[in-house]
Amino acid sequence: MKIYANAKVNLALDVVRQRADGYHELDMVMAPVSLRDTLEITPSSTSTDHITCDSPLPADNTLTRALEVLRDYAAAQGKTIGAYDIHVTKRIPEQAGLAGGSADAAALMKALNRLEHLGLSESALYALGARVGADVPFCIAGRTSRVQGIGEIIHPIDTDWEFDLLLVKPEAGVSTPAAFEKWHESRTEMHDIDMVEEALVSRNEELLLSTMVNSLEPAAMALVPELESLREEMTELGLVRVMMTGSGSAMMGFSVDQEVLENAALVLKHRHPFVQVVTAGSSHGTRGSGRSRS
Ligand code: C5P
Repeated sequence: MKIYANAKVNLALDVVRQRADGYHELDMVMAPVSLRDTLEITPSSTSTDHITCDSPLPADNTLTRALEVLRDYAAAQGKTIGAYDIHVTKRIPEQAGLAGGSADAAALMKALNRLEHLGLSESALYALGARVGADVPFCIAGRTSRVQGIGEIIHPIDTDWEFDLLLVKPEAGVSTPAAFEKWHESRTEMHDIDMVEEALVSRNEELLLSTMVNSLEPAAMALVPELESLREEMTELGLVRVMMTGSGSAMMGFSVDQEVLENAALVLKHRHPFVQVVTAGSSHGTRGSGRSRS
């Protein structure tokens, strides 16, 4: 079975407060994008899982954690989940703020819920997904949403607006815990995320571009100073708004002019390891309905 794991971007990210357990409560607007990994899942002929990937995977990867969480859940219900061979074709860059690892875990959890007849509702899957990673519930939802809590509270936004944007990730990545730690040194006042949601519902481009915000951007820029020059490069190429997604280090460039996006991509491809025009918004199905430009 072949399934797709779509990346996400943040059209807004505001840090609300730090919880006693160290995690940060957030107020975000997230949208799925057409950039996606592919997972091939087949029941294993052996008794152990085999997870392979065309790039190196750490031992404690999100797929291993997702399998553990689902097996624990199944065991508590008196069920067992068989072993699987899983192969990942990676296209989503890591340490980019694009939820690459979370997207893979979310796609696997949704697929196993069906294959193993676990009968988990979407909200039950969100709760289990949150144990794997804070972005997993959104990736399970897979549609443009207001996302709160540490990432487990999902309110889909009533919009089917899709638009293209340019994603650029420089060589350096940003570690999420490091970005949150740095945020405490450079914290700003809170932002009004309601207007970002309103802009998406009313398809108001001007309102979207003027209200989009990412509270982690100053922290990430302090950790990776080349992000500031990347922003300048992208602005010089005609992108009207340039903002970081998630905890970085990928930057998003916006323009309604497709030619500006494509031309900027052509120029920046020679300078940075990951450059791609993607479609954001609406929903990109895990079973192949989403568009991909890769
Ligand atoms: O859950 P995930 O593995 O994606 O989070 C990585 C790290 O990022 C956490 O260990 C935590 O330090 C930080 N984080 C946070 N608040 C969030 C999400 C992540 O502090 N809402």
